[in-house]
Amino acid sequence: MSRYILPVSVFGTIFGSAVLLKNYVTGGRCPSKATIDGKTVVVTGANTGIGKETARELAKRGAWVIMGCRDMEKCEAAAKEIRGKTLNHHVCARHLDLASMKSIREFAERIKKEEQHVDILINNAGVMRCPAWKTEDGFDMQFGVNHLGHFLLTNLLLDKLKESAPSRVINLASLAHIVGKIDFEDLNWEKKKFDTKQAYCQSKLANVLFTRELAKRLQGTGVTVNAVHPGVVATELGRHTGLHQSPFSSSVLSPVFSILVKNPELGAQPVVYLAVSEDMEGVTGQYYDVMTEKEPAPQALDEEAARRLWEVSSQLVGLEEEGRYSKSRTPVEGESKAAQTLGRRSEPVVGAVEL
Ligand SMILES: NC(=O)c1ccc[n+]([C@@H]2O[C@H](COP(=O)([O-])OP(=O)(O)OC[C@H]3O[C@@H](n4cnc5c(N)ncnc54)[C@H](OP(=O)(O)O)[C@@H]3O)[C@@H](O)[C@H]2O)c1
Repeated sequence: MSRYILPVSVFGTIFGSAVLLKNYVTGGRCPSKATIDGKTVVVTGANTGIGKETARELAKRGAWVIMGCRDMEKCEAAAKEIRGKTLNHHVCARHLDLASMKSIREFAERIKKEEQHVDILINNAGVMRCPAWKTEDGFDMQFGVNHLGHFLLTNLLLDKLKESAPSRVINLASLAHIVGKIDFEDLNWEKKKFDTKQAYCQSKLANVLFTRELAKRLQGTGVTVNAVHPGVVATELGRHTGLHQSPFSSSVLSPVFSILVKNPELGAQPVVYLAVSEDMEGVTGQYYDVMTEKEPAPQALDEEAARRLWEVSSQLVGLEEEGRYSKSRTPVEGESKAAQTLGRRSEPVVGAVEL
C-alpha cells in the first residue's frame, strides 16, 4: 500500500497545482453584457482559435461580422457554424492573406466599397515559430503576417474607422513581447542566423509598439487602439512547435498542456472585453494582460523605437511611396515593387505620411 502513497501524492499535487494555475491564468469572462447591434466588426484569422471564438461572441452580441481568412473553405465553414449557433446571419467570410500585400489591399478595397462603416477592427491572425518562411513580398513570415500585414490593413481602413468613430482597433499581442527585440538592421532575418522564437517575440513587440504609436497619431479622432495578451490558450498556434510534432508530445504532453491552459472560448474573452466594454470607452494606447491594464516591457515603451518602426513599416509596405506617388501614376525608374503595386490606386489614400 505504502508504495502507492508517493505516486498518488505526486499526482494529486500536480493535478491540484494544475487546477489552481489554470484558475490563475484563465482570467474569467468579459464582465460587460453590452450588445453591439449593427456594428461592423472585422476579425482577421477568424476560422479557428481565439479569432473564431471572438467572431462567435460578437455575432451573439448583434455585430455584423466580417471574417478575414486565407483559407476560404475553413472560413466559410466557420462562418456557417457561427451563423447557425448565434442565429445572426450577418456573419460573412472574406479572403484575406496577410502574407500578401496584394491580398490585403483587395480585402481592404472591398470593405471600403461594401461597408458603410467599420466600428471594430480586430487584428488577431498570427503565426508562431514557423520555419524561416517568407511572405509573398519577401518579408520574414512572422514579422510580415503578425506586424506588417496588420500595419498595412489598419492604415488602409483608417478612413473608415475615423468616419465610424467612436471606433476601436484591437491588436493581439503577447506576453512574449517581453523578450522581444526590434533589430532595425535586420528586421527580416536576412543577415543573421534565423531564430524562430526570437522572430515571434520581435513580431509581438512590434504589435505593442505599433499600438502605442498609432494611438498617438489618432489622438482626437475618436478611434482608440489597444493591445492585449489573451493569456495562454489551447489553440492551433503551436502547430509549428515541438509540442505538436512528435507523437509523444502530441499524445502525452498536449493533453496535459490543455488541462493547464484555457480553451479558445475563454481565450476570446479579453478581446471581447476590449471590443465592447463600456470601461474601454476612450481608453487608448494601452497594453492589457488578459483584462487588466499593465505596463508593457520597457522596450515596448521606447517612443523613439515606436516612431522608427512606424516609418520603416510604412516604407516596407509602400505607404510612404503611395503618399509620394499617388498624384502621378507613371512608374518612375527605380520605383520599388511595393510602390508599383500601390500605384494602381486611383483615389488619394490616408497613409502613414498623412496621419
Ligand atoms: N494561443 C495563445 O496562447 C496566445 C497567447 C498570446 C497571444 N496569442 C495571439 O493570439 C492570436 C490568435 O492566435 P490563436 O492562438 O488563436 O492561434 P491559431 O489557432 O493558430 O489561429 C491563428 C489564425 O491566424 C490565421 N493566419 C495565420 N497566418 C495567416 C495569414 N497569412 N493570413 C491570414 N490569416 C492567417 C490562421 O489561419 P489558418 O488556420 O489558415 O492557418 C488562424 O485563423 C495571435 O496573434 C497570437 O499571437 C495567442
